[in-house]
Amino acid sequence: MRTMILQIWALISVVAKFVNADYSEYHNKHMSQQLSLSNNSTSNLLLPFDTTRVPGSPESLYIQDFIINHYKRQMKQNWTIELDNFQENGYNYTNMIFTLDPTNSEKYIVFAAHYDTIVNIDGFIGAVDSAASCSILLYLSQFLDTVSFEDRYLLDKKWDSNEMGIKIIFFDGEEAIHEWTETDSIYGSRHLSEKWMKTGEISQIELFILLDLIGGKRTEKVPNWKIKSYYKSSHKYYQELSHIEDKYLNENNNTNTVAHEKELFPTDVLYLMLNKVLIEDDHVPFYNANVSILHLIPFPFPETWHTINDSFETLDINEIHRWSTILCNFAMKLLSDGL
Ligand SMILES: *[C@@H]1O[C@H](CO)[C@@H](O)[C@H](O)[C@H]1NC(C)=O
Ligand SMILES: *[C@@H]1O[C@H](CO)[C@@H](O)[C@H](O)[C@H]1NC(C)=O
Ligand SMILES: *[C@@H]1O[C@H](CO)[C@@H](O)[C@H](O)[C@H]1NC(C)=O
Ligand SMILES: *[C@@H]1O[C@H](CO)[C@@H](O)[C@H](O)[C@H]1NC(C)=O
Ligand SMILES: *[C@@H]1O[C@H](CO)[C@@H](O)[C@H](O)[C@H]1NC(C)=O
Ligand SMILES: *[C@@H]1O[C@H](CO)[C@@H](O)[C@H](O)[C@H]1NC(C)=O
Ligand SMILES: *[C@@H]1O[C@H](CO)[C@@H](O)[C@H](O)[C@H]1NC(C)=O
Ligand SMILES: [Zn+2]
Repeated sequence: MRTMILQIWALISVVAKFVNADYSEYHNKHMSQQLSLSNNSTSNLLLPFDTTRVPGSPESLYIQDFIINHYKRQMKQNWTIELDNFQENGYNYTNMIFTLDPTNSEKYIVFAAHYDTIVNIDGFIGAVDSAASCSILLYLSQFLDTVSFEDRYLLDKKWDSNEMGIKIIFFDGEEAIHEWTETDSIYGSRHLSEKWMKTGEISQIELFILLDLIGGKRTEKVPNWKIKSYYKSSHKYYQELSHIEDKYLNENNNTNTVAHEKELFPTDVLYLMLNKVLIEDDHVPFYNANVSILHLIPFPFPETWHTINDSFETLDINEIHRWSTILCNFAMKLLSDGL
């Protein structure tokens, strides 16, 4: 009897610990070093992207190695690495997929971004398009690796019973080579979706979260933006993300910067009622295969979008930290409680 009470108490206290966790200890320890615009240390996950990343180029191969090595060297758990290589229009493309699935589950949450840059703007860096999003995915991966590894309760019980794995996808060839058309754009996501239609993996995706154009500075021309809810099938997830955003903004309200304004508006349902693809991006072939999509893209787009000015000077580190924190909490919520 006595031991049972102790066991129950122990269980309650880990549940309480989990429910109350905002992981601020983890973020305080790691975020300012891993996501920094000034400290170019070996743990920096953002500055290595400060280069062009044209498909198949030496710079692209360098960044592919950097991303792959992050999963090979920094992770404690068994992440599987899948490279999806193909050629089209004389370019070599490589999608990179990293899977953490401790319970060999049937369902996946996908987080995705594209790492390539525009070919025909010489020297285009693509800081918001989408270097910052890629660095957020690397940070999120390491967070999940560490926190779920350390939190035995989560690993043994919650993750287990919920049976969801996570896939992080870095798409190549999102940008058009010449001009955006259905066949000159999203080379990587079209290729991977076709492959996963054949294998049936596409129907294992519970939710596909696509990050794009995240992390920019507001400017006079574009002083603010919204990240809208576009699709009915994912609106419940959008609402949850908005709750997490509220919580974050409340807890960080003394940090008086523009990066602490609300960006998600669950009651703003105009786009939701239209329920169609209004912004074409890597999610389209997955959307067409009936996958539930959460497209996290600010609108209006940052002023530097598709100009040579989309460089690291126009990134807002507070914005990057904000989305990293919110998405870490969101991922933990999905993997532990489901929705
Ligand atoms: C820069 O990063 C390194 C390694 O993460 C850390 O030891 C150092 O304290 C950081 N320097 C500053 C000024 O934050
Ligand atoms: C960061 O340091 C590495 C290694 O010294 C260097 O190759 C790279 O150019 C630096 N990156 C930036 C953005 O300063
Ligand atoms: C790692 O995961 C893969 C795929 O789920 C599995 O085949 C492999 O046995 C795992 N390796 C270890 C050491 O657990
Ligand atoms: C594509 O990759 C192949 C094999 O790695 C290589 O031989 C070829 O030169 C590459 N082509 C381009 C256009 O980079
Ligand atoms: C933040 O603080 C300001 C001033 O104290 C207040 O007006 C605002 O409502 C607060 N915002 C949030 C999200 O709590
Ligand atoms: C998606 O769903 C629609 C409507 O239910 C159906 O007609 C279509 O065949 C489905 N497409 C795929 C690829 O499953
Ligand atoms: C880039 O920024 C500079 C300085 O703000 C501006 O003069 C120029 O018009 C911008 N270029 C483009 C292509 O937007
Ligand atoms: Zn773009």
